[in-house]
Amino acid sequence: MERAEDAGIYKLTDDLAIIETIDFFTPIVDDPYSFGQIAATNAMSDVYAKGGKPLTAMNVVCFPVKTMDMSILKEILAGGVDKIHEAEAILVGGHSIDDEELKYGLSVTGIIHPDKVVLNSGAQIGDKLILTKPLGTGIISTALKGNKATKKAVAKIIKSMSTLNRKASELMQEIGVNACTDVTGFGLLGHASIMIENTDVGMVIHSTAVPFFPETKELAKMGMIPGGLHRNREFRQSMVEINKKAPDYLVDILFDPQTSGGLLISVSEEKAPTLLRKMHQEGIREAALIGEIIARPKGRIIVD
Ligand code: CO
Ligand code: CO
Repeated sequence: MERAEDAGIYKLTDDLAIIETIDFFTPIVDDPYSFGQIAATNAMSDVYAKGGKPLTAMNVVCFPVKTMDMSILKEILAGGVDKIHEAEAILVGGHSIDDEELKYGLSVTGIIHPDKVVLNSGAQIGDKLILTKPLGTGIISTALKGNKATKKAVAKIIKSMSTLNRKASELMQEIGVNACTDVTGFGLLGHASIMIENTDVGMVIHSTAVPFFPETKELAKMGMIPGGLHRNREFRQSMVEINKKAPDYLVDILFDPQTSGGLLISVSEEKAPTLLRKMHQEGIREAALIGEIIARPKGRIIVD
């Protein structure tokens, strides 16, 4: 707990540690089944970010029993359980309460060999940074709420947000990496900041190399900016130096809060091409090299 890690890790024996994490939120898409899939994928992501394997999950449900049809809850839970099974984990229980606003997610327990835990610190000078999913889910979901998002854009983010980070996590364990976190509510630059905060290294992010959903460009220009985006920027402003030539919409995208985003991985320069190639071969097509770890200025991010 000294550093803000993605999940709690507890060593049981010399070869076994458990990873514990919980995440739940209000619906971000209209279709209940898709929402269930996204919430479950998102909840299990912190286990994958540490390089672990989800083992068991429990439903966390807040449901407006008096005003909403129970069939909606059934669909949400079906979406969740399908993702739990895809992860080869099992649902072992859960808890639900009556609440004015619908919320759903999971408490997840995963397992890992204690020596194989990938922390979010540990990035080494010279490392390359790989991001495995495009950015922009926050901007597009905000546009969806304002009826400004196209069906195609919504379909793209649903597919991305309900894609498990499992394969990416397995490949990073196979190749061996120095640090990893998943990109969620603090946005790319927020989570990147956590990676290097209070360490002896700095970071460069090549803004033009960062993958994002193409629709986000116009939507950001139209002002479809989630509230969390401004908070993310204000919070990390002092750690980040952004090239003045970088367009505003791109800076917005770099701070856009993600739901069920990809992994941000710090891997040695020698191993980076292999990891990226294997990811592309395994269907993680949008994975991209987006920057590197540098010696100076330490504890800061330069966006060029
Ligand atoms: Co996380
Ligand atoms: Co989390």
